Amino acid sequence: GKPPLLIQGAMKVETSHIVEQLDALEEYRLGEWYFASGNYHGVPLAVSRTQWGLANAAATTALAMEFFHPCAVINQGTAGAHDPSLKNFDIVIGRETVNISAWKSHFRARGEGVDEEALDKLGVFAYDKEARRFTQEVCHKADEELFRTALALRNSYKKGSVTEGVIGTADSWNCQVDRVLFLHDFYGTAVEEMEGDAVAQICQTYDVPFLTIRVVSNTVFAGDVDWDLAVGAALQEYVLAVAEAYMKKR
Ligand code: 5AD
Repeated sequence: GKPPLLIQGAMKVETSHIVEQLDALEEYRLGEWYFASGNYHGVPLAVSRTQWGLANAAATTALAMEFFHPCAVINQGTAGAHDPSLKNFDIVIGRETVNISAWKSHFRARGEGVDEEALDKLGVFAYDKEARRFTQEVCHKADEELFRTALALRNSYKKGSVTEGVIGTADSWNCQVDRVLFLHDFYGTAVEEMEGDAVAQICQTYDVPFLTIRVVSNTVFAGDVDWDLAVGAALQEYVLAVAEAYMKKR
């Protein structure tokens, strides 16, 4: 059949709402990771539960490339706010992703202490088809068509705001307001999460269009509070509409 659009989420609460709505559902295990495929309103979709973090995100993306040969990839899920104006349930469409743990610190000798802000951005490697080699880039841009399709649906969402911004990725969860504000300023990030830029690297290497869409589930600017996982289903509803609109245009 037609190549599917692949939708990824790290956890069950970030993917089950989509899986439940698929017709002709098939479920798979590649390695130990969960995948599914089916149709949504006549549109072929594949779903991947990546688990947390960059290594899992990259591995499951490469596996999905070889197994499903997707025409495009949307990485989506929960995130923490870096922009102080963002609230839970607000959606951020990723104009680009950046690895916020990719940096080189300025030299300091023994006994000179630690300055966590004395950094140069380093970037990570992905294949550049024009240069015909792997190049090190700080940011990875989203596919224009996916990005525009996602942004065009912004007025349909009633549970919060929908804005565009930079998505920051690392295997860390920052709970210190001043650290978050530094990252917001240094990388220009709207939110932080643990998968987006790793997926972007693999999608660029395979030359497959990708987009990250995230929903705020926690913000340090509200104090030391837990995350709200109810945001997961709200975002999946939005992502299904994006997937359908994108696939019906092709
Ligand atoms: N920092 C990092 N990752 C977060 N996630 C949600 N909120 C945050 C946060 N503040 C997402 C990650 C990962 C899991 C912890 O949820 O993408 O999958």
